[in-house]
Amino acid sequence: MQQSRETWGSKAGFILAAAGSAIGLGNIWKFPYIAGENGGASFVLIYLICIAVIGLPVLIAEILIGRTTQRNPVGAFYKLSNSKFWAAVGGMGVVAGFLILSFYAIIAGWSIGYIIEAINGNFFNFPEPASSAEHFQNLVGNIPWIMGYFAFFMILTMVIVFSGIQKGIERASKIMMPLLFILLIILMIRGLTLDGASQGLDFLWNPDWSKITANTILLALGHAFFTLSLGMGAMLTYGSYMSEKDSIPVAALQIVILDTLIALIAGTAIFTSVFAVGLAPDAGPGLIFQTLPVVFSKMPGGYFFSILFFISLTIAALTSSISLLEVVVSFFVDELKWKRHTAAIVISVFIFALGVPSALSFNLLNDIKIFGFDFFELADFIASNILLPLGGLFIAVFVAWIWGYDKVIPNLRKGAENFFDNYPLLSSLWKIFLKYLSPVLIFLVFLYSIGLLEKIFNVFS
Ligand code: TRP
Repeated sequence: MQQSRETWGSKAGFILAAAGSAIGLGNIWKFPYIAGENGGASFVLIYLICIAVIGLPVLIAEILIGRTTQRNPVGAFYKLSNSKFWAAVGGMGVVAGFLILSFYAIIAGWSIGYIIEAINGNFFNFPEPASSAEHFQNLVGNIPWIMGYFAFFMILTMVIVFSGIQKGIERASKIMMPLLFILLIILMIRGLTLDGASQGLDFLWNPDWSKITANTILLALGHAFFTLSLGMGAMLTYGSYMSEKDSIPVAALQIVILDTLIALIAGTAIFTSVFAVGLAPDAGPGLIFQTLPVVFSKMPGGYFFSILFFISLTIAALTSSISLLEVVVSFFVDELKWKRHTAAIVISVFIFALGVPSALSFNLLNDIKIFGFDFFELADFIASNILLPLGGLFIAVFVAWIWGYDKVIPNLRKGAENFFDNYPLLSSLWKIFLKYLSPVLIFLVFLYSIGLLEKIFNVFS
């Protein structure tokens, strides 16, 4: 006897949950530092174009597959194609969800650890970049510290997914997302009102075209993908709980706008502060955990704002991690008929176990390298550079070429009749982008991210 499948309680519930998936470490940790390293405003502009030409079209495609089939990624592809190959593409998404969460939750764990550091006022003990960086190294080198917060974060993720779509994910998103917006706006206002904030604004908003290279463009494309949680069926799975009364193009646009807004707000908050205290903006991945604590120790009210900042980062990570876990859980629930409760617990334990070598790669297993990567980097590389671009490519190809627009469009029109009639040009653009532009561009990102494109460039130069 099939139990009826869960659905979102409201349209806003779906938008907030999906925006929650999109808004994560990618927005607050990664976007500011890659924008910082790649010319600020000029990177931002290219990134916005990438969001529009591949992010939005693929996002619409993913949500549509989910809503039409009301299944997890594997079941969804199988239902539409009857082919094992396409079911395996869905399977790749489930594996990616499993793998990404195993390292994502480690960084999210640091964020919780840093809330405690902030509350204890520890940033004031390490008020210059070198000692702050050393303090960070000591923390991640401490096995109980890194494992404890990793486990704690996984438990938080598990509890929310365990509680179901409406009572778990939707409720958590409805509380946490507005809070995240408020906290980040407070942090942005703090940054903007510091003496010397304008240098930070210049840096983020004044284009430096000389810094734009083919590399930058590919980086922007790859990030557009990651930040919207595309390529592994997360948005597909969330879409599978969506009603046919709601408009997919409108929802997708709202998700994209919220995600972009948060990245820009976080970037503004961070760079105005970093410049105001006279620190370097291009610290790379260490910007958040090494540079920012120093910034807080020097800024008026820094104690208070440091706590708010790491709470925001944790919230953003948590609303993303639940979407990663939900992809895997929905597969076990739909296809293997597991109970949600069992699936959430068992899968979380396995994800934690898979993450242990990654967590230990910051200390005990420091020296172990596979193809030049430690465990953490390897998991990240396989997921972000191989599985996600391939998954995205297959999603675009599937919807545009395999499923076929004659069947796609009537499904997409459900809940969006007005949109289609009012914006015929936009719907034609969507069809063309998804069919030609997205697959080609995603394929280039894929070649680039596995290092092939550089080799090809070298042959020709
Ligand atoms: N989008 C999230 C971020 O910006 C990360 C994320 C969550 C993700 N779920 C995903 C990335 C699914 C790719 C696929 O931090």
